[in-house]
Amino acid sequence: MSNLTTSKPYAIFNQSCYGLSPLSENTVDALITDPPYGISYQNHEWDKALPQRQIWEDSVRVLKSGAFGLVFSSVRLMHRLMVDLEDSGFIIKDVLFWAYLNGMPKSRDVALDIDKELGIESRVVGKYNYVQGYKKGGAENYYSDNEKLKYEPNSELGIQYKGAGLGLKPAYEPIILVQKPIEKGLNVAQNVIKYGTGALNIEQSRIPYAKGEGKVGHNPHPNGRVSANIIRTDELDDGYDKFFAVPKVRQKAEDFNHHPTLKPIELMHHLVKLVSFENQTVLDPFMGSGSTGVSCLTLKRKFIGFELEKEYFEISQRRLENTKN
Ligand SMILES: C[S@@+](CC[C@H](N)C(=O)[O-])C[C@H]1O[C@@H](n2cnc3c(N)ncnc32)[C@H](O)[C@@H]1O
Repeated sequence: MSNLTTSKPYAIFNQSCYGLSPLSENTVDALITDPPYGISYQNHEWDKALPQRQIWEDSVRVLKSGAFGLVFSSVRLMHRLMVDLEDSGFIIKDVLFWAYLNGMPKSRDVALDIDKELGIESRVVGKYNYVQGYKKGGAENYYSDNEKLKYEPNSELGIQYKGAGLGLKPAYEPIILVQKPIEKGLNVAQNVIKYGTGALNIEQSRIPYAKGEGKVGHNPHPNGRVSANIIRTDELDDGYDKFFAVPKVRQKAEDFNHHPTLKPIELMHHLVKLVSFENQTVLDPFMGSGSTGVSCLTLKRKFIGFELEKEYFEISQRRLENTKN
């Protein structure tokens, strides 16, 4: 592969991705990336703004004709990102819906704010321990020792607005599926023959039938269902699982990995299988702690990654060195 100068199946760069300068035109088979969402997550400087459109133009340049891309996004800013992707030359093909149940709502008690604004002291009605999270069937370890006072609104207007808040519990993340247009004059088969790109790897990303599952359609495929555009963290109580289910996000895949937006490796495996074939090369311009790369090596793909922060780059380096391929 022209982009890899070493014998390793990966090349990673501790530099800004803008320009993708080490990469040649028309050489990469797929793009999978989890870029900054532009929502200042946990006040991280690198998440303050969405990536500049230039990186998507750069990606179109290095991707092969018909290559697919998967770009993580946020509910609040996906519309801007989609416009940037489209204006850079990508075709928007779909939006995958990654549903999970452990998102925390960001809200405020508006009724107590009204009391404060009116200069009326809210009533103290008890104490509580701050909840760190939720666990089915027993939550002891999820409470902090930090006792807090519990308030209720006291003003007339505050009482009227009791329970009013500002937002819903976030329960999904959109993942935008894009494609570089197929070369003019070629059909899909001709494009696959010429470049190896242009088709999704439906076969490898099929969802196996659950054990004991009954009727599955007129002509069931032996390897399972075609992967849907819904991915979940928890199974529905419908007796069998029609969609790909990913276990909940673990903050630390290994002790040394403290990247704040680490993605579950099972999810990355599913995405890598969907948009690439064995021995192909996948690019992640915002690799963070290298989850896309770990998944690529595990699944016999090659990987090219960029990460600006030295600290995260070194975590990626260590994870990739530790990954058997
Ligand atoms: C959302 S995180 C990716 C996390 C990754 N999915 C993981 O599992 O570890 C985005 C990363 O992009 C990096 N980043 C931001 N701007 C960059 C740039 N111009 N070039 C390369 N990396 C950049 C940030 O430092 C951050 O680690």
